[in-house]
Amino acid sequence: MGVSASSLKFVEENGAGAVTCKSIGPVDRRGHKNPTVIALENRIINGVGLSNPGIDAEIEIIKEAQKRLTIPLIVSIFADTIDNFSVIAEKLLTVDPQIIELNLSCPNTEDDLGKMFALDSESTKSVIHNVKKVTQGTNIKIFAKLTPEEEDFTKMGKVVEDAGADGITTINTVLSMNIDIYSKKPLLANKYGGMSGPAIKPLGIESVYTLYKAVKIPIIGTGGILTGEDVIEYIMAGATAVGIGSGIYYRGIDIFNKVTKEIQTFMEREGFSSLEEMRGLAHKS
Ligand SMILES: Cc1cc2nc3c(=O)[nH]c(=O)nc-3n(C[C@H](O)[C@H](O)[C@H](O)COP(=O)(O)O)c2cc1C
Repeated sequence: MGVSASSLKFVEENGAGAVTCKSIGPVDRRGHKNPTVIALENRIINGVGLSNPGIDAEIEIIKEAQKRLTIPLIVSIFADTIDNFSVIAEKLLTVDPQIIELNLSCPNTEDDLGKMFALDSESTKSVIHNVKKVTQGTNIKIFAKLTPEEEDFTKMGKVVEDAGADGITTINTVLSMNIDIYSKKPLLANKYGGMSGPAIKPLGIESVYTLYKAVKIPIIGTGGILTGEDVIEYIMAGATAVGIGSGIYYRGIDIFNKVTKEIQTFMEREGFSSLEEMRGLAHKS
């Protein structure tokens, strides 16, 4: 839903409070061959391969989306090198987004092992520090998106906060594979994929819970949210806001309105009058 102004607007019309565009890289990228997305009972496996039109073409899509949206647009970016994150951020100054989200779950090609940025403290620190320098003097907030493969959320949370990030989004998809035992092949053309949907919710909750203890900056919790109760769980773990992706497949595009109503029902029944009252409650027990 994050690839065009009209699909982003469609999400707004169905009750979302903000929208995130699909991650944008330095240049046009076709992504992997089909099949790229497989939906199973409790999880989606995708090996899309970060297909995107590249930052220069995306700027026009962002301008169009900003004209049409009345809610904030979070612009997600990824890059192959530390410097390319800054190059993209600089180009984004012309469209002045409210939030730039750094998708750090992509390989650093300058690293001999091709390690994900988010698994390496030094490169994560440099990406955030350099992008903050580029956006200095603007109102643009910088969020770092982490991966469930993080070795130590407490340590990485502190690295991200100390580097100057304004917030954290967690989690991205979980590295996974499914094999079709009749064709004897992995289901995805790329063999490996990222898992999302209900199966990964406990990993998302754990990540938010651990980060909430470690940092003061706001956390957007994502991973497996289908219902209002799932959102409450993330808020009680310490999330400031939440994101929904795969849930659109399981409950339809009006999941945003449905979830909002379910949150209200829970709050009325349990006697809560604000999200603030529920935030981090699981830490007090
Ligand atoms: C088809 C698909 C494409 C995705 N593309 C991106 C992406 O471009 N950038 C990113 O940071 N996360 C991407 N994600 C991950 C989601 O943003 C989210 O972190 C993850 O799916 C967990 O949330 P969910 O269970 O609600 O889907 C993608 C997920 C799916 C299923």
